[in-house]
Amino acid sequence: MANTVLVGAQWGDEGKGKIIDVLAEEADWVVRFQGGNNAGHTVEIGSERYVLHLIPSGILHPGKMCVIGNGVVVDPVALLEEIDGVEQRGIVTKGRLFVSDRAHLVFPYHKLIDEYRERKPAAGTPIGTTKRGIGPTYGDKAARVGVRVGDMLDPDFANLLRERVEANNKMLIASEAPTLDVEETVATYLAVAQRLAPYIADTIPMIHDAMAKKQSVLLEGAQGTLLDIDFGTYPFVTSSNATSGGACTGSGMPPNRIDRVIGVVKAYSTRVGEGPFPTELHDAMGEHIRKVGHEFGATTGRPRRCGWFDLVVARYAAHVNGVTDWAVTKLDVLDDVEEIKVCVAYECDGRRYEHLPASARVLARCKPVYESFPGWKTSTKSAQTLEDLPKLCRSYLNALARLTGTPISILSNGPRRESTMRLDLAAAVISA
Ligand code: GDP
Ligand code: IMO
Ligand code: MG
Repeated sequence: MANTVLVGAQWGDEGKGKIIDVLAEEADWVVRFQGGNNAGHTVEIGSERYVLHLIPSGILHPGKMCVIGNGVVVDPVALLEEIDGVEQRGIVTKGRLFVSDRAHLVFPYHKLIDEYRERKPAAGTPIGTTKRGIGPTYGDKAARVGVRVGDMLDPDFANLLRERVEANNKMLIASEAPTLDVEETVATYLAVAQRLAPYIADTIPMIHDAMAKKQSVLLEGAQGTLLDIDFGTYPFVTSSNATSGGACTGSGMPPNRIDRVIGVVKAYSTRVGEGPFPTELHDAMGEHIRKVGHEFGATTGRPRRCGWFDLVVARYAAHVNGVTDWAVTKLDVLDDVEEIKVCVAYECDGRRYEHLPASARVLARCKPVYESFPGWKTSTKSAQTLEDLPKLCRSYLNALARLTGTPISILSNGPRRESTMRLDLAAAVISA
């Protein structure tokens, strides 16, 4: 398999976990490169359902090697719980799951700060974060006061952490937020460090040794392009680079070793949390998509906001990620829809936008310009090949490929592994 980066091309929850699981069959290594346990990646195999937050979705294939890269922020308590959870279900993690010693650690004070900032947002509007401490941890990383996974193995770890907890307590007191018991926290994390030690490694030579042996690497993105700290709808974003560039900085994989970039898109759009979403539906159609698509957060259980497919977003995502091909998921969710709309441009303040505006304030005022497609009104759930799909469904997909200038190589018509079609990129039907 070619070395492949897989990214979300919308606002997250595009079905990345499912597609990673499908592709992991052909890869030797699966590497998560950013985000933390704000992610929730669902994989369904037979009657089993797994929701992975930090562990790469490749773990469900026995024998595949998995790495939590340096760009990830790791809540070590959450990671140990997740490891215990999968081990209890018969999945071996020792010797095949490694956490980069350069990854930054999430501590309880990060979560307290995240919660406080959501309660009392500096800019007046909460972001609607997952409250997993993600923003404050990346903040500490950039401010160069973070503690890294490798520090857990340092004889001075207790002092390092003590100093950080004391400093953060001062900040929390000033904010009238709850504080942490210093010695209790230090004792807890010393025990956590001991348990996590067998998983900690310098993962960069591991990945490079693998490539020297012609093994292939699949890089698993979390969140999505519009949640990227640089390219997303700032400030309503997460705090990492969820786009393909983050795959390099978050893993040690150089750009010239990446052969393919798969962008995952739903056949419609969803968003969790606050922030602009031009194609959002506030009507019965939005409810229908939420119900049929089970659009409730895999991490927080929050109902996801639902809307039509947005070509402005998809074209932008194709550009900034260098998407070579799309994986289109949740096609089956549109099976009953009479008329399917696709946003081709925005109108705002008397101006037409073909490209995504930088400002979230402008985007919030943008009105979508729609093109309509007749629904296929037939179940696609049992389709196994492109030919099994109704003609109108193929026309819809063809339009998505044509209007984004990017071919579709994977179609997903159900949550399970088997409900996946791999398309011949040379096939004219879904070509750009
Ligand atoms: P991720 O964060 O991108 O991995 O996506 P999530 O796991 O948060 O959300 C995707 C949801 O859609 C999960 O519940 C998946 O099981 C489900 N899913 C994935 N692909 C399909 C599909 O093609 N059809 C349907 N109906 N559900 C899907
Ligand atoms: P996966 O990998 C969807 C959203 C939150 C919030 C914003 C910032 O499952 O696609 P954060 O806790 O990261 O500071 O929250 O980002 N968010 C996600 N939305 N899918 C995710 O991950 C998300 N991770 C964060 O809802 O709006
Ligand atoms: Mg998710």
